[in-house]
Amino acid sequence: MNLSAAKIKIAPSILAADEFRLGEEISRIENAADYLHIDIMDGHFVPNLSYSPETVRDIRPHSNLIFDVHLMVDDKILLSCIDSFAEAGADIITVHAEAADDLKRIAEKIHSLGIKAGVSIKPHTPVSEIEDYIKFFDLVLLMTVEPGFGGQKYMDDVNLKIRRVREIAESIGRDIDVEVDGGITAENVHIPVSAGANVIVSGSAVFHAENPAEAIEKMRKCGYGV
Ligand code: DX5
Ligand code: ZN
Repeated sequence: MNLSAAKIKIAPSILAADEFRLGEEISRIENAADYLHIDIMDGHFVPNLSYSPETVRDIRPHSNLIFDVHLMVDDKILLSCIDSFAEAGADIITVHAEAADDLKRIAEKIHSLGIKAGVSIKPHTPVSEIEDYIKFFDLVLLMTVEPGFGGQKYMDDVNLKIRRVREIAESIGRDIDVEVDGGITAENVHIPVSAGANVIVSGSAVFHAENPAEAIEKMRKCGYGV
């Protein structure tokens, strides 16, 4: 058993939930999940659109989960999105390195709003792009699919990047969250966990299951390697 697996957190992505019944969908995972992963897409940084700050504000009073907001938005609207999603109730805001020209300033900005800061890279962006900035963040989100859509296949090439980020975190003495996002199921969750990931985003495998809470527990056990 990988010891880091003893601490894995599951972050269901509401992108895969039935939006007609969004409240009900969230209440089904409320006691089983750790984070609620909320994908924000601007139709430009990624070819899809998703939620506005109003959606987050409306959900906020109904859930005690940690709101893990993943901003897939362009540099032009990045700062205003940080403000509006923080105000709407995010607990963690993650930005894409590909969309930010000054990651240190972005981390400071997010922290100044009293919440945690994450930095994300797409599958083909090397870890070297963020290596010097990891120390400013609480979380690194490694995309294991091309961002934009749920239901894609996990890209095994990212495993080495997970290892590298965990090594960097250890070398600078930071117990940061190493989060993985895309194509993760109970069947393959042991792969990113054994590489050093401790936060698992999962959309389809949780919300398309007959019993999402059971699917989360199964994923947690599989991540532990039992
Ligand atoms: C993709 C999103 C993911 C997605 C994961 O851009 O960031 O959070 O919803 O969904 P699954 O688990 O279905 O790959
Ligand atoms: Zn995401």
